[in-house]
Amino acid sequence: MKTVKDVNLQGKRVFVRVDFNVPLDGNGQISDRTRIVAALPTIQHLIDQGAKIILASHFGRPNGEKNLKYSLEPVAKVLSELLGQPVLFLPDCIGQSVQQAVQALDNGEVALLENVRFYKEETDNDENFSRELARLADAYVNDAFGTAHRAHASTAGIAKFLSPKVAGMLIARELEFLGDKTAHPQRPFTVILGGAKVSDKISVIDALLDRADHMVIAGAMAYTFLLAKGHKMGKSLVEPDKISIALAAMQKAEKKGVRLLLPVDSVVAERVDFETRKLENIQIVGLDIPESMCGVDIGPRSVALFSEVIQQSKTILLNGPMGIFEIKDAAKGTFALAEAIAKNREATSIIGGGDSVKAIKESGHSDDVSFISTGGGATLEFLEGKILPGINILDQ
Ligand code: 3PG
Repeated sequence: MKTVKDVNLQGKRVFVRVDFNVPLDGNGQISDRTRIVAALPTIQHLIDQGAKIILASHFGRPNGEKNLKYSLEPVAKVLSELLGQPVLFLPDCIGQSVQQAVQALDNGEVALLENVRFYKEETDNDENFSRELARLADAYVNDAFGTAHRAHASTAGIAKFLSPKVAGMLIARELEFLGDKTAHPQRPFTVILGGAKVSDKISVIDALLDRADHMVIAGAMAYTFLLAKGHKMGKSLVEPDKISIALAAMQKAEKKGVRLLLPVDSVVAERVDFETRKLENIQIVGLDIPESMCGVDIGPRSVALFSEVIQQSKTILLNGPMGIFEIKDAAKGTFALAEAIAKNREATSIIGGGDSVKAIKESGHSDDVSFISTGGGATLEFLEGKILPGINILDQ
């Protein structure tokens, strides 16, 4: 696949789709700049090349309405600070005034368009809207890995009208780590999957059983696997209708010679209060969970077992937390595994999107891993082996 490094965009107006869908705190301030920082190498490369850079992104889900709660203006300020140069914020993403403003850009200048999802034509992947966006530029760069699983106007439709259409450096890096490094891993390759539901991860489990040497299944998802093995799970979150899937995964692991590890003990509580973030009557139990209790984290023996596997691995992929890590008393397992991964300096360690990224950051080990994916749904779909429309439309 061609990347921004393979083409000469000097003096060209370049439409760069980024994913600036960043989280806000209670005061409307950007609480995590990761996705903005992740887009900097491509933007800086284009500035250095002397391109005229037109950045576009969505922000939240405004459902096709111009709702300033979802304005990208605060992002322009942060971006300008990070780049050390002005970023021209344009209060719309199509139309005559936007066209005039981008025509006036000089080489190396950066503009940021307003949220493309203020038009429902964006998510409809409307052809006329795609054409309108394309009118702003001479070339297309997609660096929005987090949105590459969406076939929208600015992530897919626009590519029909612009050439060259190439990947940005973030997309290239995501593909290198989530793709190449897990398809041809240094072995042993350990996959650690957590999270609440088997149903969210069925395809990922299946796809990664073809690649891994060890697969750890933890988080609430593991309770359905343990239930399938005949253990009692008390009040824990289980999906009885997914027992057959758990059994099929265990059979596949056996057939493929993959060592599939489940927790051998659990932290349990009688009641979980999400509002006060408190647990009632915390205990540590073995494989069976008492009737009145529910599992909230992996126990210390599981931490020791999984950490040992992590230490022996040369490639590690983590996706999903081990417990309800938002609650301090149920976060130890998640943070302990983050530490074990961080300590294995020999291994390529990949943190795959969503909650696990939040967990690795809160654990304080985000600088000690090889790669942190910026995708949520996109990361999962890519690991499942799906073709992502935002990548598929680019020049090969
Ligand atoms: C994300 O945050 O996962 C991406 O920005 C995609 O957002 P969406 O799920 O609203 O399409």
